[in-house]
Amino acid sequence: MLARDLARSLDPIEFAVDAGLDPDEWQRDLLIGDDRKILLNCCRQSGKSTTAAMLALHDAFYSAPSLTILISPSQRQSTELFRKVATFYHHVEGAPEAELESALRLELKNGSRIVSLPGSEATVRGYSAANTVVIDEASRVPDDLIAAVRPMLATTRGRMIGLSTPYGKRGWFYETWENGADWKKVRITADDCPRITPEFLEDERREMGEWLFRQEYYCEFVDTEEQFFSSAVIEAALKDTGGPLWSG
Ligand SMILES: Nc1ncnc2c1ncn2[C@@H]1O[C@H](COP(=O)(O)OP(=O)(O)OP(=O)(O)O)[C@@H](O)[C@H]1O
Ligand SMILES: [Mg+2]
Repeated sequence: MLARDLARSLDPIEFAVDAGLDPDEWQRDLLIGDDRKILLNCCRQSGKSTTAAMLALHDAFYSAPSLTILISPSQRQSTELFRKVATFYHHVEGAPEAELESALRLELKNGSRIVSLPGSEATVRGYSAANTVVIDEASRVPDDLIAAVRPMLATTRGRMIGLSTPYGKRGWFYETWENGADWKKVRITADDCPRITPEFLEDERREMGEWLFRQEYYCEFVDTEEQFFSSAVIEAALKDTGGPLWSG
């Protein structure tokens, strides 16, 4: 068991397999990588939450004592994300014993904690010195919440991972995807996901309409149909401050 544990500790892919996941190529890259600022712009059901859950668990086992904070926009999503962590945890033979386990939190006897929080500033304040902060559905998390979590990484040189499908040309996820030069960026479309079939996609395209389909399955930051002016028009208007709008 000791040898197995050492192998898992050194090789997060072996760990994932022991936890019940055979990771895709891009998931493998993330599991073994040591990037500290990561954005995953990956299509629906590609496995981004799964990957984040696995990263969190590997940290909790082998970088103890560590604190991982998982943030999602809603209570339901926090519970869903944590459920992935718990499922993997219970799958690993010889896992470190739990001190406490609830629907949103795992505390191990080795001192590591994984805490899943619904996204409001009030819930995240009070946590400090996190080793990893995961922001799931990041395009739908308010910017002030992102601002509230960043200081948690100040003293640990910890890792921040934002994962999402796009949600229009706005907010932290979009801005960082476009302009964050020192972020590792991973884009996985439906064509890259072996579990999504062309037939399913064809069906989705027909039923969802084009822009939503491109957003959800092809990782595009498209403007929404409800938006009266396109982002391009708004941006042009904001830049074009050379003269009065009305004259005479
Ligand atoms: N490497 C893999 N092999 C097999 N199944 C996988 C793999 N990665 C993820 N899955 C499965 O695919 C499904 C979607 O995974 P997950 O919920 O992580 O995707 P997601 O990108 O977060 O999706 P969403 O955008 O809907 O939140 C889950 O049932 C998960 O168990
Ligand atoms: Mg998800």
